[in-house]
Amino acid sequence: MVSRAVFAYYRWLGWHDPAQGAMPGIESASMLAERYRHEPERFPIEELRARAVPAWTHEEADATGAWLQSLQAEPALWIRARPGQGQLLAKQIGNCRPAGDGPAGDALRYVGRIDLHRTREFNEGRFEIQDLHSQAVGWLCAPRPGETWWDACAGEGGKTLHLADLMENRGLVWASDRAAWRLAQLKRRAARAGLFNYRARLWEGGAALPTKTRFDGVLVDAPCSNLGTWHRNPHARWTMRPEDVAELAQIQLRLLRHAVSALKPGGRLVYAVCTLTRAETTAVADGLTHECPELERLPLPAVLPSARSTPSGLWLEGAPGGGNGMFVAAWRRRASISALANEGCPPL
Ligand SMILES: C[S@@+](CC[C@H](N)C(=O)[O-])C[C@H]1O[C@@H](n2cnc3c(N)ncnc32)[C@H](O)[C@@H]1O
Repeated sequence: MVSRAVFAYYRWLGWHDPAQGAMPGIESASMLAERYRHEPERFPIEELRARAVPAWTHEEADATGAWLQSLQAEPALWIRARPGQGQLLAKQIGNCRPAGDGPAGDALRYVGRIDLHRTREFNEGRFEIQDLHSQAVGWLCAPRPGETWWDACAGEGGKTLHLADLMENRGLVWASDRAAWRLAQLKRRAARAGLFNYRARLWEGGAALPTKTRFDGVLVDAPCSNLGTWHRNPHARWTMRPEDVAELAQIQLRLLRHAVSALKPGGRLVYAVCTLTRAETTAVADGLTHECPELERLPLPAVLPSARSTPSGLWLEGAPGGGNGMFVAAWRRRASISALANEGCPPL
């Protein structure tokens, strides 16, 4: 109840005056949340545009009506069953709705009320809690058994585990992050899932890469302004600043340049961010394509109905009941780069 009230307070902050104190804000937020749950149509898009997000959002990103509506509702809970296990798992834990067919059949929206972390299936490593669109990033990477991948910003391993699973525990995934505590959590999760085809290393994002290995694929799931997760973390709407966006875009480009240097000829690079700002999405993707003639753009399939293809990359759009707002772009390092040897990515 307490966490629900606090989340509602930040979700509806634009409708009250924080100077009046927390309690009146919490009370009015709870009422607004209840009204929105029953009658969302009473909140016109223009009202959401003006109050649900800070004004700078509209300068940096194209906020769709569906995304704005998703921000005011409680977010959907998604779980990732092990490959091919979605149907069976749904039957065993109940109250699950698959996102679709094929790989999307392993992405289940959980609509029940039990604490999933306490289930036998969770403790046996039969599923992970993972946002729908984060799961789609794994499908878009499409690693093959026996390949070698690098998950450069692995964090607590949501996508590392998915890649390792899609590779059927064969080949190798290098997982790096600047935060040791996140990698420690990754190792605990991998042990629970019985996945061993990975190596975890600290990496600060500098020129000294965690390994000299050259990869079939590199995923850069980069730190970002996280607008696409504002429905899950409503307080973040009010703490992120537009100047952070510009700084993050520089970091993202730097991480990508390092990733290019770690690709085998023919290797694939996948860039993912859970944000909507143009600076961190299309501008970064177009900037890298422009800078690095050894890269060729790879078109990405529209893996879900929420996917929208553009020449710069694929949007996975946030909507009520859906996944995080995300942007994904991909490239292949050309097999022969000798003719371009003097024109590679600029030195770091
Ligand atoms: C979007 S999160 C990764 C989420 C993770 N891939 C997952 O699926 O669970 C971005 C990660 O980048 C890491 N990070 C931030 N700055 C970094 C840098 N300069 N070099 C390497 N990692 C960095 C953060 O610690 C964070 O874990």
